[in-house]
Amino acid sequence: MNKSKIKEQLLNFDHNHPQFLIRYSINLLIRIKNKLSKININKKNTMNNFNFYNPVKILFGKGKIAELSKNVPENARILMTYGGGSIFKNGVYDQVKAALKGFNVIEFGGIEPNPHYETLMKAVEVVKAEKIDFLLAVGGGSVLDGTKFIAAASLYEGELAWDIAAKSIAVTKALPLGAVLTLAATGSEMNSGGVITREATQEKFAFGSPVLFPQFSVLDPQVTFSLPQRQVANGIVDAYVHVIEQYLTYPMNTPVQDRFAEGILLTLIEEGPKASNSETPDYENRANLMWAATMALNGIITVGGKSDWSTHMIGHELTAFHGIDHAVTLAIVLPGVLRLMKDKRREKLLQYASRVWNINEGTDEQKIESAIQQTEAFFRQVGILTRLGEHKVGQDTIDRIVNRFTQRKMRAVGAQQDVSIANVGELLKTRL
Ligand code: NZQ
Ligand code: ZN
Repeated sequence: MNKSKIKEQLLNFDHNHPQFLIRYSINLLIRIKNKLSKININKKNTMNNFNFYNPVKILFGKGKIAELSKNVPENARILMTYGGGSIFKNGVYDQVKAALKGFNVIEFGGIEPNPHYETLMKAVEVVKAEKIDFLLAVGGGSVLDGTKFIAAASLYEGELAWDIAAKSIAVTKALPLGAVLTLAATGSEMNSGGVITREATQEKFAFGSPVLFPQFSVLDPQVTFSLPQRQVANGIVDAYVHVIEQYLTYPMNTPVQDRFAEGILLTLIEEGPKASNSETPDYENRANLMWAATMALNGIITVGGKSDWSTHMIGHELTAFHGIDHAVTLAIVLPGVLRLMKDKRREKLLQYASRVWNINEGTDEQKIESAIQQTEAFFRQVGILTRLGEHKVGQDTIDRIVNRFTQRKMRAVGAQQDVSIANVGELLKTRL
């Protein structure tokens, strides 16, 4: 019906007629709704309320492991946790033992990359048998995450500690812990979260609680000199995607957080290739990478904004099924997520294109596509293979992932619930 016809009908209508009143009311409601939705749009652009709490003491720089003795509680019964043995080869073990001379230290090694629940529960037995009251994690993100889980599971009163992760059971008490970080990547050293894998079921879930912040974390960039290039590259990409997950969503009028985020991204773009292309590690370079990774996921850039984490959620499944390194899964998935979300997240993508990649020419569509291509090129430049096919993963795995999400009765992934499960299969297809 055209406008003049509607006008004509309205003029000829008995205004006291119930039909008119109903139509009038509906029109009024639509107008109110439109007004409200305008207010909502404005609301979207307003920084959310937040509480920010981060109690982790950072001991950063050369030789800082020696300060352990001043930070570990005196008379504590300490369980020192570590991974597959890198700390014996690069001197970190000796430094820790020297710093803790005279302390009561029991050791638990063998925590795998993507730490296994099964292994961590063995550590819980040691904690109980030895009456441990302080945990010291020495290693990369996996050892730190694993140790956070041990801290929670040791005091867990439920039946199955796996539920802490699988059923997101609130952790209200945990053993105190500290950390000596040997791999800059996850930010676990300054946050209260972790991710663990159950080998038996090939499942990987995150958990977290304010009681799981480390009391302190020692960050000596020199200890990262012994990292293989693969792990250096993983660290750069993981930190990069952590920033993207928190920054590249919807504008919330958070210029401080945005510019912190862009500063971290630019630092990684500058420093990353230097680290991955050089045979000999450089202290300044490693120091900047280490601090960038810590800042990327200690909560500071996420406050008041809208985070995503859909790339991580999908990536976790690739690790769970195929053991692909965490950061590699992110480099595979992220370009697919960004292309899928290019209309919904247009404003932030354009900001990212301009401020991070200096892309200011062309149509919006071209700028966004170019920024996504630059992002993937950066991942490849630091040495990460970004296609599923390059990791021998095919359509069957995509189907398994979609089925799994469907079985879990999920409708969407990510904090904004804007990446629907129906789209996960499509976006992964573009990454084959
Ligand atoms: O086990 P060892 O022998 O120590 O060897 C490790 C491991 O093989 C080795 N490595 C670590 N430091 C080294 C070293 N080798 C030589 N020199 C050193 N200085 O590197 C390998 C990988 O270690 P890992 O700890 O698994 O790597 P990363 O730090 O990348 O941690 C990955 C885990 O963290 C989780 C991931 O899901 C994954 O399970 N994440 C944790 C987060 C958090 N807590 O906030 C957030 C992240 O998104 C991430 O999901
Ligand atoms: Zn990550």
